[in-house]
Amino acid sequence: MAAAGPPDLLVAGDAVPDIIVGDVAGEIAFGQAETLVERGVLTVGGSSGIMACGAARLGLRVAFVGVVGDDAAGRFMLDELTARGVDVSGCVVAPGRATGLTVHVVRPGAERDRAMLTAPGCVAELTAAMVRSALAGRARHIHVGSFYLLPKLAPDLAALFGEARKAGCTTSLDTQGDWEGRWRGGLGDALRATDLYFPNRDEALAVAASLGGRGPAAGSGRNDAAGDDRNDVLGDGDLERLLKTLAALGPLPVVKCGAQGAVTLERGTVVRAAAPAAAPVAPAALPIDTIGAGDSFDAGFVYGHLQGWPVGRSLALATACGTLSTRAAGGVAAQPGLEEALAASA
Ligand SMILES: Nc1ncnc2c1ncn2[C@@H]1O[C@H](COP(=O)(O)OP(=O)(O)OP(=O)(O)O)[C@@H](O)[C@H]1O
Ligand SMILES: [Mg+2]
Repeated sequence: MAAAGPPDLLVAGDAVPDIIVGDVAGEIAFGQAETLVERGVLTVGGSSGIMACGAARLGLRVAFVGVVGDDAAGRFMLDELTARGVDVSGCVVAPGRATGLTVHVVRPGAERDRAMLTAPGCVAELTAAMVRSALAGRARHIHVGSFYLLPKLAPDLAALFGEARKAGCTTSLDTQGDWEGRWRGGLGDALRATDLYFPNRDEALAVAASLGGRGPAAGSGRNDAAGDDRNDVLGDGDLERLLKTLAALGPLPVVKCGAQGAVTLERGTVVRAAAPAAAPVAPAALPIDTIGAGDSFDAGFVYGHLQGWPVGRSLALATACGTLSTRAAGGVAAQPGLEEALAASA
C-alpha cells in the first residue's frame, strides 16, 4: 500500500532486482558448464531501493525516485516497492530501455562473501530534474544511494542537496563503491551539502585518502561485505582520525564496520555501536546473508535522525536494523519493524 500524505523521506537512486544464487564453493565454471546450486532468490535490490523499503518498514512515509525500464524487471521493482509501502509515483519509466539487474554469487562460509555482477541498465538515467520534481519541497529528508551508478545526477548533487537544505530538508548519502577507484566525480562538493554520510569502512578509508589528503592507506573501493577484519586494521586513534578527516569534508560520517557494528562522532567524541547479539532475536547462526545490510542500517539511522534522537541512539538502532536484515536471503526479507529494531538496540 502506498504511503499516505507527504513523505518524511525521499530516496533517490538505484532500484534493481537482485538475483542471489549459491553457494558456489570453487571458481565459477565457464565453457557452458551448468553448475547446480542449492538456492536462487529474486528480490528487491539496489542500495536505494533496499534503503527505501527499510525506512518504510520502520514506519516512515517514504517516496522513491529512480529510473526503470518498461520491462518485467522494472514492473517487478515498482510492484515490490509499492507492496512494501513505498510511493513510486515519482519514478520514471524509460521506454525501450532495460532495467538494471544484479546477480550475487554467494560463497559458503560464515561470512557469506559474494561476487556481484551488475548491469546498471537505465539506473544511470536519473537526473537532478527528476529528483527535484519528486521532491517538490515536500519531504523532510532526502537520501541518495549509489552515487557512482548515477553519472547524470552526481555532478548536480551538491546543488540539489543545497536547494533541499534551503527548503529545510536534511540530506544523506551512501555512495557505495567507486567502481573506477578514484573517489572523485564531484563527491567533495556533494559531501559539503550532505548532513549524514554513510560509508562502510573501506569506502571511508578511500575517501579520506582521496579527498581528505590524509588518513590510513586508500582502500580499493571494494565493497567488503564480509568485513570481519575491518577493525583489526584500525586502532582507536586511527578511527578517530578517520572520522575527523571525513567530518572536515562537511557531513557527520557514520562508518559501517560489518560484524563489528559502526562508529560515528557525537560532539567530537567517537561513539560506537556493536552489532547486537543475535541470539535473543534469531537463535540460528547469523548472518545468513549480508546483502543490503548497510542500506537497512542507513534506514535505521535516518529514522533516528528524523525523530531528533541523539546520534548514539540512532547508531544503535541503525546497527540493529543492519544486523537483523542479515537473517534472510536478500536485502529486504528480514528488515525489522520498529518494535523489533528497538528491542534489539536496547
Ligand atoms: N557479518 C555481520 N554480522 C552481524 N551484523 C552485520 C554483519 N555484516 C553487517 N552487519 C550489520 O549491518 C551493518 C552494516 O553493514 P556493513 O558494514 O556490511 O555495511 P555496507 O558495507 O555498507 O553494506 P552493503 O553491502 O549493504 O553496502 C553493520 O553495522 C552491522 O550492524
Ligand atoms: Mg554499503
